[in-house]
Amino acid sequence: MSSVETNGLTRRFGSFMAVDHLSFEVKEGEVFGLLGPNGAGKTTTVRMLACLISSSEGSASVGGYDIGRDSLKVRQIVGILTENPSLYERLTAYENMDFFAEAYGLSDVQEKRNRIRELLEFFELYERRNNKVATFSKGMKQKLAIARALVHQPPILFLDEPTAGLDPESSKVIRDLIERLSQREKHTILLCTHHLEDAEKLCNRVMIINRGKSVIVGSPDELRDKIAGQPVLQVILKNLNQKIIEAIKDVKQVKEVDVDNSASRLIITLDDVKSVTPEVVRSIVYAGGMVLSVNTLRPSLEEAYLKLVKEE
Ligand SMILES: Nc1ncnc2c1ncn2[C@@H]1O[C@H](COP(=O)(O)OP(=O)(O)OP(=O)(O)O)[C@@H](O)[C@H]1O
Ligand SMILES: [Mg+2]
Repeated sequence: MSSVETNGLTRRFGSFMAVDHLSFEVKEGEVFGLLGPNGAGKTTTVRMLACLISSSEGSASVGGYDIGRDSLKVRQIVGILTENPSLYERLTAYENMDFFAEAYGLSDVQEKRNRIRELLEFFELYERRNNKVATFSKGMKQKLAIARALVHQPPILFLDEPTAGLDPESSKVIRDLIERLSQREKHTILLCTHHLEDAEKLCNRVMIINRGKSVIVGSPDELRDKIAGQPVLQVILKNLNQKIIEAIKDVKQVKEVDVDNSASRLIITLDDVKSVTPEVVRSIVYAGGMVLSVNTLRPSLEEAYLKLVKEE
C-alpha cells in the first residue's frame, strides 16, 4: 500500500515552476529520499504534501487522504520537521513538547505526560527536560524538533534536511534515531537531504530531482549502477610493465585499462567483474606480474549523484 502518492504535482511561484509535474509513490513503512541540489524543489514538495502550501496543479494523497480536500486529516497523520524548525528558546524542552501536544489536542493529561516522557527518553533528552532550549546545542535542538513532530503519533513523517548544519557525530546520532524510528515504530518517512550518506544509509529508495523534475528513482544501489556504471577492478602489482598490460587487454571482456605507474596500480573496466576477475589475475601472473592486491571498486552514490547533476 502506498502512503504517499503524487500525480503531476506542480507548484508555481508566479511564472516560476518550482515543482514541475512530479509523480511518485512512497510505500507504507518505506524511507524514501528526496535528493537534489539547492533550489531543486524538495522543500516545496514537502510543504505541499504537508498541506502548508497549496499546489498549482496535479494531485496527491497522503495516508489515503487528498491534500486538497482532506487537509485537516492529512495534518493529523503527518509529523513534519521543517527546514528551520522554530522552538521556543525561553521554554524548557518539556514545555515545548507540552505546548505542541496541547496544540495537537492531546487532552488526556496522563496520556500526554507518558507520550512526552517516552519521546524525550527515546531521543535521550529526558535528563535535560527542565532546561531551557536556549541552552541546547544544535544537535539537541534538532532531536527535540523531531521529537516534537512525533508528539501526536503520526504514522507518516516528513523530515526536511534533518542533519543540515550538524557535525558528523551529531549527524550520526540523528541518522541512528531515524533508522530506529523506521524499524521500531514502522514510520513511513519522506526524507529531504543532500547528504548522500544519509540517503545511502537510510533510504530504501531515492528520487533525485532537479529544477522541480524527477531525474531518476531507485534504490541507492540501483542509482549507483545506473548512473556511475559498473564497478571496476583495482589491481596493485609489485612490478608493472607493458607486457602485463597487453596481457590484460587480451582478455576478451576487458574494455579499458587505466595505468597509474607511480603506484603500480591498474584500474580495469570490464563487463562482469565477478566472473572475469580470476581470468584477469591469471593473465597477469602468466605475464610475470606479482599481484599485491585485487579489489572491486564501486562508485559511491555521491560520485553517481555529482555526475548526474553535472550532466543535467
Ligand atoms: N515562497 C516562495 N516564493 C517564491 N519562490 C519560491 C518560494 N519558495 C520556494 N521558491 C523557489 O522554488 C525553488 C525551489 O525551492 P525549494 O525550497 O523547494 O528547494 P529545495 O530543493 O528545498 O532547496 P534547498 O536544498 O536549498 O533547501 C527555488 O528556486 C526557490 O527560490
Ligand atoms: Mg529545502
